[in-house]
Amino acid sequence: MNEPTSIKVVLLGESGVGKTSIINQFISKKFNPKMSTSVSAQFTSKIMEFPEQKRTLRFDIWDTVGQEKYRSLTKIFYKDAKIIIFVYDITTEYSFNALQTYWYTETVDNTDGEPIYAVCANKYDLYDKAVVKTEDGKKFADKIKAIFQNTSAKSDTGINILFENLGKKIINPNYDYKNLKKENIILNESNNNNNDGKNGKNNNNGNNKKGCC
Ligand code: GTP
Repeated sequence: MNEPTSIKVVLLGESGVGKTSIINQFISKKFNPKMSTSVSAQFTSKIMEFPEQKRTLRFDIWDTVGQEKYRSLTKIFYKDAKIIIFVYDITTEYSFNALQTYWYTETVDNTDGEPIYAVCANKYDLYDKAVVKTEDGKKFADKIKAIFQNTSAKSDTGINILFENLGKKIINPNYDYKNLKKENIILNESNNNNNDGKNGKNNNNGNNKKGCC
């Protein structure tokens, strides 16, 4: 295995959207339906191999606190992030609006460098109760040049593929997740498909612009 390159990842979004749950599912394949709200940022990491790119990345993941009273502290964590994942809950409109009116503008003003962004539409298992349309989430993601992903921390949907796509984008900034990951397109286009794309083939678009690391 190659020496892993460490990549700082920060999850941002309103309280209760599922930031901690997404990380728990990614790291330890566990879901707790009765999570207590975070009162301090937590750090965890996971190594992921990218055999086709012959690279190993270590995602150093910061779970931040969504509650408004702690927001000023959150800046410390995303300032030098390489990847920022904006999370909203598809069943609460304010959580989506807050990404546009607060979280995104905050990071644009306060980050060093140009992080790679993702927009994560969480609680996809509650699709029947969704008030935010997938197409609106995608429009916002396109606007800020972010990877869009439907996820469910409960049913472990879309999380692995999100980190896979982010890793590939870090290695090759020209990597286009939309054109290349068929299973991901199905998950993000159709309403109730829980395919995580775990069996999808890795690929890149042959463009040879150099990655950040
Ligand atoms: P803060 O720590 O307050 O910032 O919240 P958070 O964004 O970390 O949310 P957390 O992971 O604590 O999840 C909030 C609640 O939503 C918990 O009761 C979770 O069990 C639940 N939850 C998280 N993800 C999902 C999901 O994908 N589907 C469903 N149905 N519930 C979820």
